[in-house]
Amino acid sequence: MKPIGDLVEKVTFHKTRIRSHPDELILIGKGRSAAVFKVANTDKAVKIFYPSCEYLAKQEINIYRQLNNDQYFPAIYGEGRNYFILEYLSGITFYECLCQGIEITPEMVKQVDQAMNFAKSKGLNPSDTHLKNIILTGHGQVKLIDVARFKQTKECRQWDDLKATYQKFYRLKYFPKKFPKLIIEMIVRLYRYKLLPQSIF
Ligand SMILES: Nc1ncnc2c1ncn2[C@@H]1O[C@H](COP(=O)(O)OP(=O)(O)O)[C@@H](O)[C@H]1O
Ligand SMILES: [Mg+2]
Repeated sequence: MKPIGDLVEKVTFHKTRIRSHPDELILIGKGRSAAVFKVANTDKAVKIFYPSCEYLAKQEINIYRQLNNDQYFPAIYGEGRNYFILEYLSGITFYECLCQGIEITPEMVKQVDQAMNFAKSKGLNPSDTHLKNIILTGHGQVKLIDVARFKQTKECRQWDDLKATYQKFYRLKYFPKKFPKLIIEMIVRLYRYKLLPQSIF
């Protein structure tokens, strides 16, 4: 197996689009700032930042260091100029739970709160905690990924708002637990553009 740094060198982007990548890196997710690949035949993943977001690699790795390999976050194994190597989390995001109808339990919500409280105890300001940044692993453990914005000073209400709607609607016995992706995307956009009525939170 080639060193992971050598594999990363072979990944090319056009803005946020992946132009090419070696077979040993299997794409597992894309976000606003990076693409994440599983390293074949290992339990490692590599988060490679888009050319315009490379500066975020250093920021995010420093935050992971502050989190000190805590149980609520993926372990970190190494870093380079525009990437870092982290623990591959075999599981699904809360977003996928909603798409697939896998119930999000109060225990899972409690684990997110505990992860956020731990980050706060380390002097961080957990931010950008939304459905695609929370992973439920096969062992029923919840972990947060994408901590790049945990040092921002601006207040982020995403998790508080998600939790409020969870308590108010999702917990109702007959509230649906499975949603078409299109509906979720529509609600996410309405939320992002502040078009949802405040009364639902
Ligand atoms: N360690 C990991 N294990 C498994 N999947 C991951 C891991 N890190 C990220 N992903 C997947 O990749 C997606 C994008 O990663 P993320 O760190 O959120 O990137 P961005 O900062 O661009 O939002 C996530 O929503 C998730 O589906
Ligand atoms: Mg993300």
